[in-house]
Amino acid sequence: MQTNNNCIVIFGASGDLTHRKLIPALYNLFKFGRLNKFSVLGVARSELNDNTFREKMREALLETEETTPETLDAFCSHLYYQAVNTSDAADYGKLVPRLEELHTKYQTNGNTLYYMSTPPSLYGVIPECLAAHGLNEEKDGWKRIIVEKPFGYDEKTAQELDVQIHRFFEEHQIYRIDHYLGKETVQNLLVLRFSNGWFEPLWNRNFIDYVEITGAESIGVEERGGYYDGSGAMRDMFQNHLLQVLAMVAMEPPAIINANSMRDEVAKVMHSLRPLTQDDVEHNLVLGQYTAAEIDGKEVKGYLQEKGVPANSRTETFMALRCEIENWRWAGVPFYVRTGKRLPARVTEIVIHFKTTPHPVFSQNAPENKLIIRIQPDEAISMRFGLKKPGAGFEAKEVSMDFRYADLADEQVLTAYERLLLDAMKGDATLFARTDAVHAAWKFVQPILDYKDAGGRVHEYEAGTWGPVAAEKLIAKSGRVWRKPSGKMKKKV
Ligand code: BG6
Repeated sequence: MQTNNNCIVIFGASGDLTHRKLIPALYNLFKFGRLNKFSVLGVARSELNDNTFREKMREALLETEETTPETLDAFCSHLYYQAVNTSDAADYGKLVPRLEELHTKYQTNGNTLYYMSTPPSLYGVIPECLAAHGLNEEKDGWKRIIVEKPFGYDEKTAQELDVQIHRFFEEHQIYRIDHYLGKETVQNLLVLRFSNGWFEPLWNRNFIDYVEITGAESIGVEERGGYYDGSGAMRDMFQNHLLQVLAMVAMEPPAIINANSMRDEVAKVMHSLRPLTQDDVEHNLVLGQYTAAEIDGKEVKGYLQEKGVPANSRTETFMALRCEIENWRWAGVPFYVRTGKRLPARVTEIVIHFKTTPHPVFSQNAPENKLIIRIQPDEAISMRFGLKKPGAGFEAKEVSMDFRYADLADEQVLTAYERLLLDAMKGDATLFARTDAVHAAWKFVQPILDYKDAGGRVHEYEAGTWGPVAAEKLIAKSGRVWRKPSGKMKKKV
């Protein structure tokens, strides 16, 4: 039987992700009784010790989580720290007695979850250094390794990284985390589609006109200019998070819900994306970069003025793409996907636009039929359709039927990191990206990277707007417009 009793070893323990996401997620799992026998061993170069590490984590938790002194003390007593020079294999020897001591103390039977929350340059190094001391071997308890994004930098480096990790860890031990898959509303997409009989007959090219996927953020690059400049919207959001969301919209029903059959279907979608041609990257892609503006009376910097960003950077902070999936379900249905920083709202949503009636009986401008799936914030599902406007005649107007997650008042919804950490401890890889899908995604986006490298155009857009005008033109070519969602779902009726 799978057990989540284990020692969680976090590499990069003095970094941002550890105190912002990982420790709070573990704290909440502990608080809600989902962790029992466990310890957390923070590892990094900084010369901290158990006490100073605990103190730092305690401060971080006090800032962001609802805590009580008892729970906080109890949780922090499970935290430990080991300074290691993470690029020196010999130094990893220090982990051997530390892990032995923790497994004995917490009766965790050698089960170890490694989390690489480090700069990507260490993703190939850490597995090798662990293997030098046998710390990857599963003869006494399971050993799993979580890899944070970015998984590679392009198709070639992703393959190289895979080869490096696979030398020491088998695929069943590798958990590539994409936190979008941990979001309750992303998973709900599957339940919505596959546990209801009425969507399936409509969910195809015969009834769907087009699909819109938006991952908008109102923030800029904040303190992460250095990282972001080497990444851009394409690598930071599109290649992973948004393509995963697209796969959830487009995939076939898996035979059963388990890691293999689910991920088989995701991989099939990635493989069915119509390869982008030169014409596509020139006419169906828009890249953008935000410029300075005043938003709500405040001056907002342009991307080129952000800390860590070179003054001549061509990195895109926005991208919009029209793409297609070549299979029987979706042939000919355009998927319009966009993402960007410094847009007017923080909102991630999917809009399924259904075809209109074949003949307009009541008015020329028949209301559209759409299903809006709001991933975040204000998580909701809204069905929009036409009903009679009260009064004389038969004029139709758009109304909506809404479901809001907030209405499920008593349910404790796990955050993405809580859910994914728990799944990794339980050995459930269903919501983690599999190597074949990751490579197919890189292969699909490679022409975009090539286009950029060859000097492809990056348009400017003012911070606080919905991206470059070219993005409006991209969708307008087919007579359509992007939805302009606000952070809150508006009630239509
Ligand atoms: C991260 C990106 O993976 O996702 C960030 O690196 C982005 O740039 C973030 O802000 C968005 O995540 P969420 O959960 O806030 O939508």
